[in-house]
Formats: sequence, structure tokens, C-alpha cells
Amino acid sequence: MRSTRRALAAVVGAAALLVASACGTGEDDDSTAAQVEVFTWWAEGGEKAGLDALVSRFTTACPGQQFSSGAVPGGAGVNAKQVLNARLQQNDPPDVFQVHAGAELLDHIDSGQIEDLTADFSTWGLTGTLPAGLIETITVNGKLWSVPVGVHRANVVWTNDQVLADSGILTAPKTLKEFIGNLGRLRRDGVESPLALGRDWTQLMLLESVLISDLGPKRFTGLFTGATKWEGEAVADAIDDYATVLGFSNADRDSLDWPQATRLLADGKAGYQMMGDWVGAELEAANFSGYDSFTFPGNGKAFQWLADSFALSSGAANPAGGRCWLQTVASPEGQQAFSVQKGSIPARTDAPTVGFSDYQLSAAADWKSGVAVPSCAHGSACSQPWQNAANAALGAFSTSEDKAALQSALAAAAKQFVRQG
Ligand code: BGC
Repeated sequence: MRSTRRALAAVVGAAALLVASACGTGEDDDSTAAQVEVFTWWAEGGEKAGLDALVSRFTTACPGQQFSSGAVPGGAGVNAKQVLNARLQQNDPPDVFQVHAGAELLDHIDSGQIEDLTADFSTWGLTGTLPAGLIETITVNGKLWSVPVGVHRANVVWTNDQVLADSGILTAPKTLKEFIGNLGRLRRDGVESPLALGRDWTQLMLLESVLISDLGPKRFTGLFTGATKWEGEAVADAIDDYATVLGFSNADRDSLDWPQATRLLADGKAGYQMMGDWVGAELEAANFSGYDSFTFPGNGKAFQWLADSFALSSGAANPAGGRCWLQTVASPEGQQAFSVQKGSIPARTDAPTVGFSDYQLSAAADWKSGVAVPSCAHGSACSQPWQNAANAALGAFSTSEDKAALQSALAAAAKQFVRQG
């Protein structure tokens, strides 16, 4: 283990540290191999299964290199990003690290923390095999900075079919109004928390879905480019709707991460969970099959996307090993093996779809035919400081329920962090 752990302690404390070092995936001791530290937030369940699938391909494809896990648990990377940024500032980088494709990369690029991978893209067969829109979001200053492995959809609602059936709910709601009606029906029937929800960033996801329904995909996307105002009636109305939906969620939401909210769903304590499509893999990993999913009501054909990608640290101790990890991640077989376990769809359009669930096949079709909208909670729309500010605003609202304060905090964050062009 490298000296890197020292920096972790300051940020997340000893408890997270223990988990982080215990979750090393595939770290068989081989004293002759060069270590490649791969930093992620995938430490358990479907997430770890996805990482393990990559590790197994890496081990075969990169002889002489040994995977070393730098996983720091916590959904959406909320803890991992803090640890990573502290390490990068102290010139103690992992060799490669997980980062969302899109605006989340910008600060790393501006600070010279990651390598230009433009030339590697053609060597690794990524030229012409990634969707044009995705290439656009990872191209900054004409260069390519991270290798996307899988695309997830954020705007999905997951169900516990038995809980819904017990209340006579047999079809997916088509509109937000109908969804709110179903939540009310569940509560009247004794389900105290019809909607399973977790902490701040999961609440931001819910607000984003409501905004997509109320503003439509184009105006929603404009919230992150400066084309749509956060001030004014349209967003205020969406915040009203958001508050109504939030009122049907579990009271302990602020203390839960997404897997615990998924547990509420699987245990029959909730009828719905609003969360990205990594939930399918989690439910499968927990052997729960009584679920279904649908696009957030009122989102129409909007496919709110995010892509997990990997960047090579400038100053990586083992750049050759890091590049071999990236090449594994870039390969069609690596992407397929990862997605089967992770519930995503491969970023590459030519990756095999063998082993995909019906959900994944339908997500792949929707990704092609839908209207792509980015996600702030998952970095395709917002830089890291913007995400932090938005998460803080949602976390504060969860207790204060002050709608005006939420709207003005979100408007202030947009003003401060929006980047034009
Ligand atoms: C990541 C997913 C991950 C999810 C929950 C998202 O930000 O892109 O890979 O499963 O967070 O941790």
C-alpha cells in the first residue's frame, strides 16, 4: 500500500478508511508485479461486481501489472471525490481514477491533473466507436481526457411490485400528477414511506427528474448552460412539485445512501425508489426479483445520461500500468463484461450485448432514440463545485423545507459556476 492512505484519513476518517482498504478487489499478492492504483467509489454490491469484471480482464490483458484498489465507498463518489481532490492537491495521485464524463472533468483539466489521451483513443479503437454526443462532452480544448466505460440512465423509478399490487397499482404512472396520486394511495393504505430516498445528492436527482417533467428536456438542459433561468415561476412551480413528492419519502432520508434506500424498496417498506439504473444490478446482486422500472413520469423520451469514465493522473507512479488499465476499459469486451454486472450500457456502440438484461437492451435502444439530457448530480452537466453547492442546497431544504431559499441557492450556484461555450 502506498503512502496515499495518509491523505485519506484527514478527509473521511478511520471508519471509511477501513472499508476502503478492506475492499481491495483482486489484490492477490505478487511481489514482482507493478502496482496500478485504480481509484473508484465502487466498493460493494453491483458496483463492486462491475469493477471485478474489469479487474479480471485487466489481469489477463496486462501481465506484470497488478490491480490495487483505491475504492472509497459512498454513492455518486461524494466521499471519493473529496479524498481524491485532497490527494491530487498533495501531489499524491492514484495512477488512474474514476470520474464522470462531462463538466466534472473541467477542474481536473484546468489544474493540469490529468493526461491528454487523444492519441491513445485511436490506438485503443475508440475513434468512431463512441456516440458523437459523448465524444463532444469529453473533448475539452480539442483534446480527449478520459475513457468512458459505461453509460447509465439517471431518470428511472424502481418498483416493488408486491407493494404496488397490494394497493391495486398495476401500471406505471404516465404523468407526475398520476405518480403523486399513487404515492398518496400507498400512504393511505399504510405504507408510511411510499418513496425510498437517500441523502442530498439522491434528492438532487429527484429534483432534476421533476424539472425535466415540468420544463421539458430543452429548458432543463438550459439550466446548466445559462439559457434557462433558475429564478422565476417555472422553477418555483417545479420546486412545489418536488416538495410534494419529497413529502412521500422516508423521514430518515438524510442519513441513507442509495443502497440503503434500495433495501427499503426490496424489504417492502416502500413502493418506489427514484434512482439511476445501477439499482437493477444491486437488486440482482441481492437476489430480489420482484421489481420493475419505468422512466420518471412526465420525462417522455428524455434519457438523462451519465457516463463512468477513467482518467490517467499526471504524475502517476505507474503510467504504463495506468494506460493498460485504460486500454482494458476501452476494449469492447471489457465494456461488455463491466456493464453486464453494473447495469449500465457500454459506451462503445460496437461492444457485444451478450448477457444483457431486458432492461439493459431497452436502455440501449432508448439511448439511441431518446433525447439526451445531462445530469448535475452525476457530473455530465455540472462541475464539481456546482454539484457540491447543489447538494448542499438540497440537503438544507430537506430539513428547512424553505422553497424560496432552495431556489435562490440553486440560482446563486448557477450564477457562480456556469461556464459558457
Ligand atoms: C456512478 C455510478 C454509481 C452511482 C452510485 C454514479 O455517480 O456513475 O457508477 O453506481 O453513482 O454510486
